Amino acid sequence: MLTVPTDEPTRRHEARRAGAQPDRWWRTGAVYQMYLRSFADSDGDGIGDLPGALARLDHLVELGVDAVWVNPWYPSPMRDGGYDISDHRDIDPRFGTLSDAEAFIAGVHRRGLRVIVDVVPNHTSSDHRWFREALDAGPGSPERARFHFLDGRGPDGSEPPNDWSSAFGGSAWERVADGQWYLHLFDSGQPDLNWQNPEVRADFVDTLRFWLDLGVDGVRVDVAHGLAKDPTYPDNGGIAVPRDRRDLVDHPYWDRDEVHVLIREWRTLLDGYDGRMMVAEAVVSPTRLPAYLAPDQYHQSFNFDLLEAEWDAWGFGEVIVTSHASAAAVGATSTWVLSNHDVMRHATRYGLPHGTDHARWPVTGPHTALDAAVGLRRAQAAAMVTMALPGSVYLYQGDELGLPEVWDLPDDVLEDPTWRRTGGAMRGRDGCRVPIPWEETGPSLGFGPSEGWLPQPGAFAGLAASRQAVDPTSTLSLYRQALRLRRELLVDDEALTMLALGDDVLAFERGSGVMCVANMGTSAIALPDGEVLVTSAPVAGGLLPPDACAWLAPRTRSAPVVTPPV
Ligand code: NOJ
Repeated sequence: MLTVPTDEPTRRHEARRAGAQPDRWWRTGAVYQMYLRSFADSDGDGIGDLPGALARLDHLVELGVDAVWVNPWYPSPMRDGGYDISDHRDIDPRFGTLSDAEAFIAGVHRRGLRVIVDVVPNHTSSDHRWFREALDAGPGSPERARFHFLDGRGPDGSEPPNDWSSAFGGSAWERVADGQWYLHLFDSGQPDLNWQNPEVRADFVDTLRFWLDLGVDGVRVDVAHGLAKDPTYPDNGGIAVPRDRRDLVDHPYWDRDEVHVLIREWRTLLDGYDGRMMVAEAVVSPTRLPAYLAPDQYHQSFNFDLLEAEWDAWGFGEVIVTSHASAAAVGATSTWVLSNHDVMRHATRYGLPHGTDHARWPVTGPHTALDAAVGLRRAQAAAMVTMALPGSVYLYQGDELGLPEVWDLPDDVLEDPTWRRTGGAMRGRDGCRVPIPWEETGPSLGFGPSEGWLPQPGAFAGLAASRQAVDPTSTLSLYRQALRLRRELLVDDEALTMLALGDDVLAFERGSGVMCVANMGTSAIALPDGEVLVTSAPVAGGLLPPDACAWLAPRTRSAPVVTPPV
């Protein structure tokens, strides 16, 4: 089991303070996404909290990650899992207090890790003081100018100002008592802020400064591509999110050029601190992503291309080469993401046939199409691929346990607004947010002293962290081993050479000479010559089975190099 020498964290932080060299830890960092609400509950209210998370932090050290990204922890009515914030500079009492947050940050730093917090500039909660003031103040007031309040269409203004749709379903406009409408690109409990308003801009800088001063090492910026709206509010056909991100061009509210001016201001603030970073949740066309990574913009951005790719060697290879090259072209590194709190867990995704619409499949089925065992094998192999790549890797809590999507939660426990707003056409994202099974027994399998806010399926007991920790063949052991080797062999350079080992094989070599070989086909393949360092499935007679990945240390180069597909 991996342990951190006791003086290690201190040494790292001494180096940071001395500013001996620019600390760009995020370029190669392994970041663990903590969905706080479902991580560990200390007080038995069924909701994960900061003292619970602090008590479980050694799990992250033993796993071997470098940083933790915590989903929103602010006061919130929780109409969108905390992305509806009523005070950006406090902690929701269900999660703890500001002192708990300070203790958590200190606990993370003491272990030599970094902490990234989620900030949400695009919208507030409808419970936020500003929104309540806007409702009271009425049309034309400076209070309403902080949001997007418009008169409606039609003779009596009873139709929404335009045809924009909410990303969660239904119209993006809600009418208030005096007849005006306000914009909410997400739930009606999440009114969009008006980023043309200087007060909105100044307030967000104060929020950033607040958390940076409290000691966080980075911020994850929610809906980074959505802040600027076309001030003429043109109709757009009512499509909230095009199926293909390449179609996201010249849009009235996604990825408008004006957002880059805002980012510059935040970057200047962060540059005044040592070793801090911003990561963008920018859902944009791949060709537009590098603009978010320019030197005066974000340090990195989530790369959702692999998350959206099917299990296919050519597709994976194309994404990898393109993403690596386009990040490098602007002096950044790519991030690699397979899962997060918004999508079906990849252990389930990879068990479904190609072409499945993962957001609708829990409703439409056919549910017999799921092969969970194949899904898990591929999930382990895909994780090894991402951990072997140059750049930064983001792991979503529970990935390291191979947790599946709980796609069949009972209707009456569902909380995601998507479920309600689509009239049941989509079950939403609760299935990837089920509390973590830490132990094999107990009312919520060690998550807390009582049942969790979402029920865990029976199969979670067999996936408990305590059980996997002592099983050398478990997903958890694989993650620990791979992350340790990654630190030792794969983070000192950003070199990537693709290797040609067959149509269904994804293979590449890193600067250290370590090769990563993933068999994405249907029959076993012969591994190139080399010492097998770690594999996601047993290798017998030098053969790697289908749906598996191996890392090899070189003896001699035996694999031909391919010209990248772009
Ligand atoms: C992206 C977040 O990841 C998601 O969970 C949230 O619902 C939307 N942004 C709106 O804040």
